[in-house]
Amino acid sequence: MFLQKLKSETGNSHFALEQNPYSINLMNPNVSLDDYSNYLQRLYGFVFGFERTVFPKLQEIDPDINLRRKSELMHRDLLKLKCDFTKIPTFSEEAFNLHYTNSLTALGGLYVLEGSMLGGVMIKKHLTEKLGNKVVDNMEYFTGYGSETVKIWKNFLNILSSHATDIEKERIIINSANNTFDLLNQWIAPHPPKII
Ligand code: HEM
Repeated sequence: MFLQKLKSETGNSHFALEQNPYSINLMNPNVSLDDYSNYLQRLYGFVFGFERTVFPKLQEIDPDINLRRKSELMHRDLLKLKCDFTKIPTFSEEAFNLHYTNSLTALGGLYVLEGSMLGGVMIKKHLTEKLGNKVVDNMEYFTGYGSETVKIWKNFLNILSSHATDIEKERIIINSANNTFDLLNQWIAPHPPKII
């Protein structure tokens, strides 16, 4: 079945992203507010551009696409952390257009960004324990869809599989999901590359 194949064939690249030094710091028992801020800044630099450049390619095929925007939640979290937005590197429009050329490659990328809401549940729990409720009560991005997370994820998977209608389309989505994990892994770094 396509969804099982997608999950198992992207397992290694998700694991690599979990092993990224920024992810390790985030999940470390000694996590600091800076570690949280650094992680969010890097993700924001990718998600913001993805929503601006790649979401238009999904308008026709995902009826819920506009509800999936998360960069505003991230923006509000970063404002609370008093972050300097002029210093946040953003993944270029040119690079997005290079990697996401059609609706199927865009769907593969969206799978990765929507799936981050699942990990978010665990990340929020960890940050609550380590940084305390005061920080976490105001946290919007890692709260994501809250109690609706599983329902929205299942709906998304239905939409996703309805577009994987043959083996070639399946392959394009899976390759693009793996590519997205790899791009994020390179992007979440001290000096993100200008173009990947
Ligand atoms: C510290 C970093 C991370 C941790 C600890 C983590 C943890 C997890 C966990 C526990 C799940 C499974 C949740 C469940 O089945 O209910 C999950 C799923 C997933 N995560 Fe992550 N994650 C991390 C980072 C990310 C990032 C940065 C992304 C993408 C932006 C991402 C994308 C995904 C996807 C796509 C899935 C769904 C896989 C599937 O079921 O098909 N994760 N993550």
